[in-house]
Amino acid sequence: MISVAILGHGTVGSGVAELLINHNDRISDKVHSEIEVKYILELRDFSHMSYAEKFTKDFEKIVNDEDVKIVAEVMGGINPAYEFVKRCLIAGKSVVTSNKELVASKGAELLEIALNNNVNFLFEASVGGGIPILRPMAQCLAANDINSVTGILNGTTNYILNKMIVDGMDFDTALSLAKEKGFAEKDPTADIEGHDACRKICILASLAFGKHVYPNQVKTQGITNVTLNDVSYADRFNFAIKLIAHTKKLPDGHICAEVAPTLVSRNNILSNVDGVFNAIIVNGDATGDVMFYGKGAGKFPTASAVVADIIDCAKHLYSRKYFSWQDGYDGYVVDDSGKIGYYVVAQSSDFESLVESFDKTFEENRCNIKNRTLNEIAFITDEMSVSSFNEKISNLKCDKIKIMKTLI
Ligand code: HSE
Repeated sequence: MISVAILGHGTVGSGVAELLINHNDRISDKVHSEIEVKYILELRDFSHMSYAEKFTKDFEKIVNDEDVKIVAEVMGGINPAYEFVKRCLIAGKSVVTSNKELVASKGAELLEIALNNNVNFLFEASVGGGIPILRPMAQCLAANDINSVTGILNGTTNYILNKMIVDGMDFDTALSLAKEKGFAEKDPTADIEGHDACRKICILASLAFGKHVYPNQVKTQGITNVTLNDVSYADRFNFAIKLIAHTKKLPDGHICAEVAPTLVSRNNILSNVDGVFNAIIVNGDATGDVMFYGKGAGKFPTASAVVADIIDCAKHLYSRKYFSWQDGYDGYVVDDSGKIGYYVVAQSSDFESLVESFDKTFEENRCNIKNRTLNEIAFITDEMSVSSFNEKISNLKCDKIKIMKTLI
């Protein structure tokens, strides 16, 4: 018998408990040993549940119980999750977590503690919900040097943007719907301001390139400034607006990493990833592009990945899964200086001067709309370096300007 404790009984925690209890025979068969949920740590009252006897408010009971070999941390946030996870690892228990905030900020340290205590620390559910991505990257793509990882990593924002694109729904209504469906974080600011996607690209970059990338090293922009007007221009240009997270390795050993709303060409497969779905394209030197696609949020997709990690820990109680990276350093993440196309919306009360300066400066562009009703021009530039773009943009005679990157 292998005893498991679950820390937290929110959306994901309740999914983990239900999967472990309802699929117990099947899971125990796979592990060749019975898996028992011994404790669920939760401060709220769940005395109405059929497994009410498992609830405890006392973490000490869990950490001091030698029968508990595996702990699933599904509380979210840094405190008290960080302390609890650290203490469980030091107490010789393997830990699995869906907590991307924790892994993105403390991953290198917790992996080292796990190594020193000869236990496993696994976090498949922290990126891409139910999509297998970390294990495939670490194991199936192990022969590759990873060049880049690009993806849609946040289900809530993808759902919102999709509702805006397809149904012309406004931002707030779409966000309320995402919350109702249980996709959004407790505080949806993390979703809509891009912090959630930032944490996930930190984890992917750390795993792909072997050094920890911290959230404050990644330029991050959310979708709160994306308007129905932008969505409509993008559509007319044959693009879709997506929150894209991207990281790539540079020849000098540095890396780039960024999260930003991006106009994705309708010819790019990522433009068709809709609703709560996530997609991640990993480019390896041997494989080229490999794409992972599936539900990136929600109770059971995420619980599925947590339970898979529990099964893996149960199968490797006395051996280690080699899954790690080293600590990073200041200056490891640098700006991307590659050539790209930009989406620009410029507005001016003197529309004729704006048009004239646009025609002179951006005579070559992919597409443009001169919108006299709103006194603005929307356009997509040819691919160019940041410095050329900045120089050109300084010649544009406008009062207001909005800029986004494009992905072809
Ligand atoms: N809030 C996250 C999302 C949940 O919308 O993708 C999964 O990490």
